[in-house]
Amino acid sequence: MASSPRMAGASATAPALSEFSSDVVIGLRHPGQKELPSKYLYDSLGSALFDAICLLPEYGLSRAGMRLLQKHASEVIDCLPGPVMVAELGSGSGEKTRHLLEALARRQRVNYYPIDISGTALYRCQQELSQMEMVSLVGFESAYLEGLHKVVARRREGERLLVLFLGSTIGNFDRPAGEQFLRDVRGILEVGDALLLATDLEKPIPVLKLAYDDPPGVTAAFNKNILARINRELDGEFDLGQFEHVVRYDERERRIEMHLQSKCWQRIAIRKAGFRLELRKGETIWTESSHKYDPAEVREMGARSRFDCAGQWIDFEWPFAQTLFFAA
Ligand SMILES: C[S@@+](CC[C@H](N)C(=O)[O-])C[C@H]1O[C@@H](n2cnc3c(N)ncnc32)[C@H](O)[C@@H]1O
Repeated sequence: MASSPRMAGASATAPALSEFSSDVVIGLRHPGQKELPSKYLYDSLGSALFDAICLLPEYGLSRAGMRLLQKHASEVIDCLPGPVMVAELGSGSGEKTRHLLEALARRQRVNYYPIDISGTALYRCQQELSQMEMVSLVGFESAYLEGLHKVVARRREGERLLVLFLGSTIGNFDRPAGEQFLRDVRGILEVGDALLLATDLEKPIPVLKLAYDDPPGVTAAFNKNILARINRELDGEFDLGQFEHVVRYDERERRIEMHLQSKCWQRIAIRKAGFRLELRKGETIWTESSHKYDPAEVREMGARSRFDCAGQWIDFEWPFAQTLFFAA
């Protein structure tokens, strides 16, 4: 029997307007390189555009993650004996999670807790998964770790927690911050809990650049939407036509960077933040990074964060890894 969808914490913990405003001002005042935190790419429109990105032939990450779970979900679940509850960090639409939930639901009733900063993503996730047999879904509209704390508070005696961090979302953190994030997650878990971590692997630079700069311009729209969001929510006056979506690959850092490049000298008011921004022609605002990994590096990152590697599955069509860790 499927349970009815529920949403815990909706709106209460979504980033407040004042937090958005101060993060925007801090990022745009950043000395040297102006930047905006990538989490603000995901409002209603941004989440819908991200779903469209996942359908692009050039964006192989999503299909690779899906293929791996189609093939190996049962193997992952077989590594986890006993009753298991599932939390997902940055679930998005939760489309690929279905395979894991199905494998687990063959054995037990499943409590699944998607955590996402975007209410729209969570709504899509509920639509996608809440009607599944034997699965109860409670979503948390909150930041990753805040949501994870709320999930562990619901743990029942003897239950093991499986945390999913799919889509290579860890790649949005720079390497030290990504590792710190794993340590923070580990700090919330108990020995024997599990983490399934997806990471996009290194591949030829032209292939990577095309994945983030598709010919129809969907990723460009996703990127520019962060300025449109500032206009909508903070009464900004960005003219989106005066910005170009620019994608770079930093070979030393092994990361894709998305920027918004100013086509001219411009001064932009963001009224609700009481802030005026000046941009030179050619100057950029850095909006997102996507770090690329090699499989051994992922296992080592986990080990340094007090996780034992229990398995690693690799998609060779679009080099991509899913690594199962146990909290040591
Ligand atoms: C790259 S998408 C991945 C979505 C999905 N996991 C997948 O594999 O397709 C990242 C997701 O994380 C969410 N997100 C970004 N920053 C977040 C944060 N700080 N806390 C919670 N969710 C966040 C976004 O709203 C988005 O749904």
